[in-house]
Amino acid sequence: MRCFIYAALFLLLFTGCMNKKTPVASSAIIPLPVYIEYSEGSFEVKDNIHLIYDSHVSGDLANFLKKYLRDHGDIKVSVGKNPNDKIIGKSILLDLDESADLLPEEYLLEITPDSIFIAGSSPAGLFYGIQSLRQLFLQSPEKRLIIPCMRIQDYPRFSWRGMHLDVSRHFMPVEFIKEYIDYLAFLKMNVFHWHLVDDQGWRIEIKQYPKLTEIGAYRSETLAGHYSDEPRQFDGVTYGGYYTQEDIRDIVAYAEERFITIVPEIEIPGHSQAAIASYPELGCTNDSVSVRTFWGISPYIYNVEENTFQFLQNVLDEIVELFPSHYIHIGGDEALKDQWKASESVQSKMRKMGIADESELQGYFIGRIEKHLQKKGRSIIGWDEILEGGVASTAAVMSWRGTEGGIEAAKKGHFVVMTPTDHCYFDYYQSENSNEPLAIGGYLPLDSVYSYEPIPEELSTEEQQFILGVQGNVWTEYMKTPEKVQYMVFPRIFAMSEIQWTPPEQKEYIDFIDRIRLLEVYLVDNNINYAKHAFNK
Ligand code: ACM
Repeated sequence: MRCFIYAALFLLLFTGCMNKKTPVASSAIIPLPVYIEYSEGSFEVKDNIHLIYDSHVSGDLANFLKKYLRDHGDIKVSVGKNPNDKIIGKSILLDLDESADLLPEEYLLEITPDSIFIAGSSPAGLFYGIQSLRQLFLQSPEKRLIIPCMRIQDYPRFSWRGMHLDVSRHFMPVEFIKEYIDYLAFLKMNVFHWHLVDDQGWRIEIKQYPKLTEIGAYRSETLAGHYSDEPRQFDGVTYGGYYTQEDIRDIVAYAEERFITIVPEIEIPGHSQAAIASYPELGCTNDSVSVRTFWGISPYIYNVEENTFQFLQNVLDEIVELFPSHYIHIGGDEALKDQWKASESVQSKMRKMGIADESELQGYFIGRIEKHLQKKGRSIIGWDEILEGGVASTAAVMSWRGTEGGIEAAKKGHFVVMTPTDHCYFDYYQSENSNEPLAIGGYLPLDSVYSYEPIPEELSTEEQQFILGVQGNVWTEYMKTPEKVQYMVFPRIFAMSEIQWTPPEQKEYIDFIDRIRLLEVYLVDNNINYAKHAFNK
């Protein structure tokens, strides 16, 4: 009877979807899969379930699923490795077949009344199939498993499905970084762009330069209220923190297990006030510099002495040892050039090298760092300002000041990640309610995120191939705590995941809202402090 009611409920929710062989825009899976075919009946389990994986599947994947099942309720899970065993009772089968005719991140998920079958040609594909199944059983009533029968074939639209987090303006503890990685995994995202250093704090231990964290990881106080408030008020409280290299290794491994690449960002040549406060010889002035205590763009910029390049190369050598990502993010944004203009020694170096202006000097600066990283087998990615001074075509570009940088970069043959402020900046306000918690400014409601199409019309089919993907950015000037980050991120991250994964012709906002409401259970179960505007609360 219960099964019948549940099946009927599903029919009601997804009218028109049953037994159709066309892609449908209604299923409580986010991001929406490419292809779903519903059939009658459901897979139902009250007590015991067998989880069986073939000999190619790593036990880690089976353990993920086992953990998700255990977290969901009181179901006993027995795990076995041989799919040829005679199976008595309900089972979930995981099948990894590298020769299968599937895309690298593709998976198949088949749910029948007796069994659930997940197949992939790669561990990542299987992991994504497990995430879809997890989302489906999260919606089961009363901590049991009741999952409607269906067949899913699914794969992502973009290869870079990123989320960024700034831990300089506010430091986030290791446990929260892991939680953040969990959010990405749940939504089949695969890049965590970790903004580790900025004017307001250097947050990663560098063994050769201990002062970066002894001095650079702490500021004497922090701006209270908004940057534009007059007069400025400060809290008078020392603030800081950093990740040890042990923390970093632990987090990189944690992300890797979830098929997430961490792209670390070490900003050059601007956003370097915390580094210059730690080692004043890196700067262009004789000022007594301290770690910046308020927001906005700092005038401090690295000088162009050989010792400074040596410093940066040594720092990056440690970064490369810690992070296996192909791309290393070198920032490049908002580098004010006034101190370069005013510095006799910088100007004299420019004359000697035949560098015409400060913009070209930035190109030279970034080019040197790029060459060093290339020797280590890595490539750089930087904010779209890196195009201004000229940069090798091997550099990838993150288009944030609108889409123009991304268009120009793709036309010049650079790989591009689209993250324009007006659709991808989760530090902007998400409603116009007067009681909205303090944010930097801007306005980015959920539907604006959802409506974003990352492939610009200006690009030819060939040029479009350079768009690697899309990313949501989380700058934390006005996010002091993990709870505030959660509030700014959820549910906009759901919309971002769908831009990254789902074919655009299948996206439909009303259907998306229905699905985020069905998945609200994830937010509640995980104590996530989400914004409620879209949930009628
Ligand atoms: C940026 O938002 N400054 C990249």
